[in-house]
Amino acid sequence: MCGICAVTGRRDATPIIFEGLRRLEYRGYDSAGIATLCNGQISRRRAAGKLSNLGEVLGQEPLAGTTGIGHTRWATHGVPNTTNAHPHGTSRVAIVHNGIIENFERLRSELEAAGQVFETETDSETIARLVDQYLQEGYLPQEAAFAALDRLEGAYAVAMIFAGHDGLLIGARHGAPLAVGYGDGEMFLGSDSLALAPLTRRIAYLEDGDRVVVTSEGAMFFTEDGQPAQRAIQTTAFIAGAVGKDGYRHYMEKELHEHPLVIGQTLRRMIDPARRRIALPDMPFNLAEVPRAVISACGSAFYAGMIGRYWLENIARLPVDIDVASELRYRDPPLAPGSLGIMISQSGETADTLAALRSLRGKGLSVLSVLNVEHSTMARESDVVFGTVAGPEISVASTKAFTAQLTVLACLTVALARARGAIDIAGEEELVSSLLDLPSRAAEALQQGDDIRRMAEIVAEAQDVLYLGRGSAFPVAQEGALKLKEISYIHAEAYAAGEMKHGPISLIDRSVPVVVTVPSGALFEKTLSNVQEAKARGGRILAFTDTEGAARVREIAEHVVVMPRVSEFLAPVVQVIPTQMLAYEVALLKGTDVDQPRNLAKSVTVE
Ligand code: M6R
Repeated sequence: MCGICAVTGRRDATPIIFEGLRRLEYRGYDSAGIATLCNGQISRRRAAGKLSNLGEVLGQEPLAGTTGIGHTRWATHGVPNTTNAHPHGTSRVAIVHNGIIENFERLRSELEAAGQVFETETDSETIARLVDQYLQEGYLPQEAAFAALDRLEGAYAVAMIFAGHDGLLIGARHGAPLAVGYGDGEMFLGSDSLALAPLTRRIAYLEDGDRVVVTSEGAMFFTEDGQPAQRAIQTTAFIAGAVGKDGYRHYMEKELHEHPLVIGQTLRRMIDPARRRIALPDMPFNLAEVPRAVISACGSAFYAGMIGRYWLENIARLPVDIDVASELRYRDPPLAPGSLGIMISQSGETADTLAALRSLRGKGLSVLSVLNVEHSTMARESDVVFGTVAGPEISVASTKAFTAQLTVLACLTVALARARGAIDIAGEEELVSSLLDLPSRAAEALQQGDDIRRMAEIVAEAQDVLYLGRGSAFPVAQEGALKLKEISYIHAEAYAAGEMKHGPISLIDRSVPVVVTVPSGALFEKTLSNVQEAKARGGRILAFTDTEGAARVREIAEHVVVMPRVSEFLAPVVQVIPTQMLAYEVALLKGTDVDQPRNLAKSVTVE
């Protein structure tokens, strides 16, 4: 969602901020802007649409100054036009904001009564006008900023500059992330370490409720109640080189090709290869005593969780409840004492998943989170974190983070199965051996580009596509349908294959391709019967299977993509790769904005 980049130092602020905003583009946005301080005066430039539009405005009317704030906006309150673009402000203060101010209407009425004239439809302008009001009453910048922050309800990360105070930035974090970067004679604020990647690797993360006063000399942190605080400077592992496209056309293409690498890196964290055993980090609870698990996540991470549920139930014999985080947080289900919450998130900042995490912890559950961003809010608030070692995922459509999540969940399943006595040492060694084989099988899966491109030509012509799968192939179908919707804007729905005859089968004709994931194994024949039902009604069948299933599937399907055969346990990890590749190829044919699809944000930090 919205991204913040700010700097104070010796160099021209605008190009530094502009490049920082470029690195934040992946979060999703629909307008952008920068404000700087020059000789004590605030100037700003803003533009709707892509950053190139802001670049043109800056080309015509450059912005001088060595202190400034910048923003990419993902619209919540108010349409995505130039007027509503950040920074917002007055002649005294300019602010950028990520989040939602829930009490903005009340504050707005109060401020209008006091004579403030609002220019935008946004909730964010309230922050600027509130600070301005305090400045007019004689408060110093820090006092005015803190007094205004005290009155805000909702979620925010903000950065502010003040007329007459060149070299001063004030930031705050409340439910949305903000980081401070330490440079050489210059300091930065950024929504995440990626924004700051080439500028510095020395980063301190604000804790929730923190405020920070930044000059080119350093940063002073304060807690929500105004007490001075110390925040450790950490050296981030996310370096600039990790965020290039490496010659690929899109980040999504690059990230698809990183599946084998990230699966391997993630396995190395969780497996002792010499002993062929799972080696988990220390945990503040005993796995053997966990009676039940509650999994929650959003989007692709939720589908990874669905596959995790099949594994935990079938292999570890652990009862599992699962719900999307936006529902779980309001369902208030009765929970068995000692149950383990399992949260899954690439960003570790998704507002709904974070709220579900807090709600489970509030009910006394321990929470284990499967996260890719190690300094995220969820990482700080979890009892234990299992990291996916996927590196920065820039494309809005999640790909490599998904297989990394599955890798972690598979290792957790084996560990739980062993701890609960559902498998013995030999069983553990066998499952670990198949896990160690995964990176090579994922690399083979990536070789099927030509077949997938032929399939993509059919899908790209369709307005609606049906995805089918059974057992752990059902969430694979769901992930495939989500990916197609996200980046090609084609309507797609996934059904458990056996459910089709209970309704969706009436949709089938030649114009609705049926994409089925049907790996060999226990559910192969059952799934094929469902596919036959679709074919008998004129459906065009496009199938993903494996070497063992290929001959039978070819009798029915118009196009078949054959994946390498892996154990039935790990089939979803390999089978999901071509479904993501199919969405990518269709998006290429449709000419959509693959890495930054319309209306979407990478990290959804609002409810
Ligand atoms: O950062 P998270 O994993 O918590 O994000 C969850 C979803 O927003 C995310 O998976 C989303 O569905 C992706 N765009 C899917 O490609």
